[in-house]
Amino acid sequence: MRNSAQPWFFDAWSAFYDLPLVQWATYWPVHDAIVAALRSRDARRILDVGCGTGQLSARLRRERPEAWVAGCDFSAGMLRQAAARTRAVEWVRGDACRLPFRDRSFDAVVSSEAFHWFPDQQLATEELFRVLAPGGSALVALVNTPARLISGGIQAASRIAGEPFYWPTSAEMRARFERAGFEVSAQTRIFRVPGGLLLPPVLTCAVRPAERPHRVPRSRS
Ligand SMILES: C[S@@+](CC[C@H](N)C(=O)[O-])C[C@H]1O[C@@H](n2cnc3c(N)ncnc32)[C@H](O)[C@@H]1O
Repeated sequence: MRNSAQPWFFDAWSAFYDLPLVQWATYWPVHDAIVAALRSRDARRILDVGCGTGQLSARLRRERPEAWVAGCDFSAGMLRQAAARTRAVEWVRGDACRLPFRDRSFDAVVSSEAFHWFPDQQLATEELFRVLAPGGSALVALVNTPARLISGGIQAASRIAGEPFYWPTSAEMRARFERAGFEVSAQTRIFRVPGGLLLPPVLTCAVRPAERPHRVPRSRS
């Protein structure tokens, strides 16, 4: 049994990923929530991790023509579809657990319906922290289950199916982000029908704290 999902699985998926019904029912409500949450933030350099065919990255670029937007994914098939969509976004092949970007390169990092596939979610969260500038925001949306027992059961089933993933609880998401150094500012349920009523996606918003200026202690004389 494999421990992580493989790029070829997503390469195959990319062929029908953009079907309007799939997008409308599954992904657009999540994209809407991320776009709305990002509006109140001043972000000129934005990274979309696990960008897939690039729907969200392209939308963010349209919303903010002045921004530099990069979309990163480990599937060549997904990135081919993304590159055919627009050249206004920088498409980069890379693994979420080893992001091919320098420290502090972005003001905002988003991820939609991809985090559950990352084989080491704590490491991926630390990577989001690393590539964000102090004061920058991470907006990560995926299904959060109501209990760890449910998360574990679904994970076991996904392992048997050969493409393992893990949907965490909201408390686990918060703990991962805080352990990586983030301050979690909100966790908001996203309305989606029909399956989303039972297992709704949740948007976790977190901030990499700004660094306090280093104060030189005054010497007493
Ligand atoms: C369900 S799709 C979501 C795509 C996009 N974010 C959206 O909302 O339309 C999940 C994406 O995560 C990508 N992915 C999965 N594991 C990854 C990893 N370890 N590193 C980078 N991308 C990964 C897949 O290739 C796929 O494109």
